[in-house]
Amino acid sequence: MSKITFTAELATGIKAIDDDHKLLIEILNTLDDEIDGESSVEVIGGTLEALRRYVEEHFNREESIMEHYGYPELGAHMRQHQQLMYSAHLILRKFHDTPEKVKLVELHAFLCHWVAGHIMGADKALAQFIRQPSVKPLDKPPASELKAITVRIPPDQIATILRCATILAEGSAGSAALVEFIETLDKG
Ligand SMILES: [Fe+2]
Repeated sequence: MSKITFTAELATGIKAIDDDHKLLIEILNTLDDEIDGESSVEVIGGTLEALRRYVEEHFNREESIMEHYGYPELGAHMRQHQQLMYSAHLILRKFHDTPEKVKLVELHAFLCHWVAGHIMGADKALAQFIRQPSVKPLDKPPASELKAITVRIPPDQIATILRCATILAEGSAGSAALVEFIETLDKG
């Protein structure tokens, strides 16, 4: 199928970020081999879960770097991350429930396309910002526009909570409607 290669074009020049991207690409290529080789649902499911975990870890690391340098586009960048995590949880839930309904070749192509597009766009813009001689790490990063929290919820509800978080982070009309709906529930 289609392998993805870490070329100079994908390099941001920020070592911590590039190292993560190389590993992400490696996992994507492992997934490609497993799909090609018609590996079992358990094997592919394990790789998808490893990919989700590593992407989550990488996004957290990248977001910490953005905070560390007071990156002004942190909110918009973080929303791209949240949207992918939402899709990832939905896909994993579907794969867990009905693996035969997940089109793996298309899924792999979507992930490769998303990763390459995100690196070339949002991640390179971040690297360009950090490389400016006038940009220095902040002594004390300001409170970001968005807050990260940890909550305990049933695993099959993660996608729903991520979707709600994305809607709230966007602050659109949907956000106001969601808050209103939740307040209605609270009023009993
Ligand atoms: Fe990113």
